[in-house]
Amino acid sequence: MQNATDSLTIVRPDDWHLHLRDGAVLDAVVPDSARQFARAIIMPNLKPPVTTTALALAYRDRIIAALARAGIGEGSFTPLMTLYLTDNTSAQEIATAKASGAVHGVKLYPAGATTNSDAGVTDLLGRCRPALEALQKSGMPLLVHGEVTDKDIDLFDREAVFIDRVMIPLRKALPELKVVFEHITTRQGAEYVRDAEGPIAATITAHHLLYNRNALFLGGMRPHWYCLPVLKRETHRQALVEAATGDSRRFFLGTDSAPHPKGLKEHACGCAGCYTALHAMELYATAFDSVGRIDRLEAFASLNGPAFYGLPVNQGTLTLNRAHYEIPAELSMGNDTLVPLAAGESLGWRIADGS
Ligand code: DOR
Ligand code: ZN
Repeated sequence: MQNATDSLTIVRPDDWHLHLRDGAVLDAVVPDSARQFARAIIMPNLKPPVTTTALALAYRDRIIAALARAGIGEGSFTPLMTLYLTDNTSAQEIATAKASGAVHGVKLYPAGATTNSDAGVTDLLGRCRPALEALQKSGMPLLVHGEVTDKDIDLFDREAVFIDRVMIPLRKALPELKVVFEHITTRQGAEYVRDAEGPIAATITAHHLLYNRNALFLGGMRPHWYCLPVLKRETHRQALVEAATGDSRRFFLGTDSAPHPKGLKEHACGCAGCYTALHAMELYATAFDSVGRIDRLEAFASLNGPAFYGLPVNQGTLTLNRAHYEIPAELSMGNDTLVPLAAGESLGWRIADGS
């Protein structure tokens, strides 16, 4: 029998991929992230997108104001801002972002790939070369939504095809560019990141560690399991678990928690995104524990990310206990309702009160 750990105290973790939105939604969701994480990389896919340093700094101020309204001091949760790359992002804008000290990465959304990606990039090496060269020079990473958008490519193959068509040529052209392959979902993604030369890492979500694509259709269509990149088959989930719990320091935590109102998830054309900020560490602990590797959670959640981003490891700690945790059926989000992932189900780990 495995030696069961009943309590785990780790360095306070960070979320290296988070959607906080804006306005009333931001107010509703930011306390959930601040409860478990010390810092988060904040995605820039607002409407309109956060394409400049000035917009990123203003968004940062709104996040800090939302934290203050929730009684959370500036020292206890730090938003690490990002810029949204477009065909028109200039090298000067990248230099300004770096100089601000508040921007920590630049996000690549291929145009049309996902929520609010209409302003995304149409031809990465053709249109964005000056910005990419400035980014390489700056030392900030390019955060990549790695899916091709061609209509003739099967939805489930979009990540694997992206590696061949975009990722490999990009990294050949700019070998010193730091790249985070965001929310990888496939065995091909995990193996590419593990084995490739040069500065590359990947984030992995809790939902891609816990579920395969069957979860989308279990007993009927389940929109709260729909995200992009979409859940894949079991062999891919297993490869992600191996990567997250293995020895490579290239894999780290990124929830991709993406709140949408219940009415737009349970909809004829439902939005992509799973809300996991509420119970992220409980979900990750459950995934790591399922393969007897809870001992690897700290490296994945708290150490590998700062090492790649060149930031210090956090000071505080977070304690998780083996205890029954029932995920609430619904949360309120401004005037709307938010359904967390796996609502109503139980998990076997829980964050200690006051942690
Ligand atoms: O499922 C997703 N939701 N994937 C993304 O890439 C974007 C996100 C969102 O912003 O809702
Ligand atoms: Zn995302």
